[in-house]
Amino acid sequence: MGVNRAWEEEEDRLLYRRVYDSLRRRLESGEWSPHDKLPSVRQLAARFGVNRLTALRAYRMLAEENRVYAREKSGFYASPPVPLTGANASDSGMDEVEPSPSGPRPGNPMSEIQSLPVDYQLSQGIVDPGLLPNLFLSEYVKGVFDLYPKLMGTYSNPQGDEELRESVARYLTKDTRVPLAADDLVITTGGQQAIDLLTRLYVGRGDAMLVERPTYSSAIDIFRQQGARFLPVDITPAGYDLERVEALMKLHRPKAFYLNPTYHNPTGYTVPAGQRKRLVELAERYRCLLIEDDSFHEMYFGEPPPRPLFAYDTAGWVVHLRSFSKYVAPGLRVCAVAGRPGVIRSLVTAKSLADNGTPLVGQKLFLRYFESERFGRHLEKLRIAMRIRKETAEKELAGGGWTWDSPKGGLNLWVRLPDGLSSSELLEESLRQSVSFVPGLICDPLRETDTHLRISYSFVGEAVLKEGTRRLTELARRLAERNSLGSSLGRLMP
Ligand SMILES: Cc1ncc(COP(=O)(O)O)c(C=O)c1O
Repeated sequence: MGVNRAWEEEEDRLLYRRVYDSLRRRLESGEWSPHDKLPSVRQLAARFGVNRLTALRAYRMLAEENRVYAREKSGFYASPPVPLTGANASDSGMDEVEPSPSGPRPGNPMSEIQSLPVDYQLSQGIVDPGLLPNLFLSEYVKGVFDLYPKLMGTYSNPQGDEELRESVARYLTKDTRVPLAADDLVITTGGQQAIDLLTRLYVGRGDAMLVERPTYSSAIDIFRQQGARFLPVDITPAGYDLERVEALMKLHRPKAFYLNPTYHNPTGYTVPAGQRKRLVELAERYRCLLIEDDSFHEMYFGEPPPRPLFAYDTAGWVVHLRSFSKYVAPGLRVCAVAGRPGVIRSLVTAKSLADNGTPLVGQKLFLRYFESERFGRHLEKLRIAMRIRKETAEKELAGGGWTWDSPKGGLNLWVRLPDGLSSSELLEESLRQSVSFVPGLICDPLRETDTHLRISYSFVGEAVLKEGTRRLTELARRLAERNSLGSSLGRLMP
């Protein structure tokens, strides 16, 4: 390691410790009451003259120690005092005991990165709100309330609104060529809830589970929270190594395999048609539930994708997740889950226990749009817009030593950095330049892949995308120069 690099690392460690110590002292002195909002990451970074990741790291450490807790999109708050246990506990009874999670503390680094306020937002893997049908949906609101006057006065069926399920069943029947009826579907509050409920149902603490490497970062956090034991399976442009998949299934008898085989997040790869049938056969043979997350199915740039794995399932070992967040409205939180009766029955129970049904208003609004001719026309336009943005980002990245496989659909580029650079190092620097992206580490169930990063080209307009990507390549160039200078000095100095 270069001398400069070692100094920088030591300096980083000291800076983070300074922020952590100060916060901890102030928390212990009672300056903040339980549940008080604490300074934002930005304020803290400015006060100590450190970058935001350093400030965030201090908060993360305090959260691990149960001294603070995070509220999504809001910031950090002072935790109530941790109850005394064992010999120190008072015997004043149960009322003093605060609830605390029994498993590993939940974390979601993806959402922490996405909530940092930056000018060049390349970490959000969703579509630019300006390209989504917000206007039509808002026009529909009154019409939907007129059509269903009791909309707000009733619960949805926990399985999902029947009319919506019938409509999605017709759509998926055409698309997958599997005859489906309303009873074969559950509507969940986004794909995220479907992943969560299925994991709770099928993966117990310590159970083996196959996961792609890399994969959708928030899914990793769900599996980790559930206490799953990961069996990583590399995904490449050619799909998976099926011999390895079979060997893992045979040896470990995993309960489930979470896959996102079509325009995969973060890589954009699509598992070839030839592997899909074989995967389903393996799942049947080794009794491993395939959780097929098909969130990007409609986001293709040329030919439509191969048929989903679900299309090959005859024995009920595939459950298919079709979220509409990515191309209609993330705010509506509508995802359809298709499966065989056993899975659907369990999922309906889990869903009713979790929230008693996805809000009916959103389901009816979505239905109105989904049934209209606008839906198809919107998808056609969106595919073109996404392809243009992908090409814009690729043009800016070209020539700087970055490499990637150009995806045929989806919202992201999975990029390998020039040799010697790490994505977490680049993120620290890029946040100072108001650019964010997803570092490879958090997409890796083993938390090792620091050579790659995910750039989402879908969320920001072309000018911002261009400038954000330009800043990234420029920063990487400067970092590479600094690192090579550091290592030359390291060689010169004894
Ligand atoms: C692969 C994948 N699955 C599921 C989700 C969650 O989507 P939803 O908004 O439907 O909860 C995402 C969101 O980024 C995703 O990328």
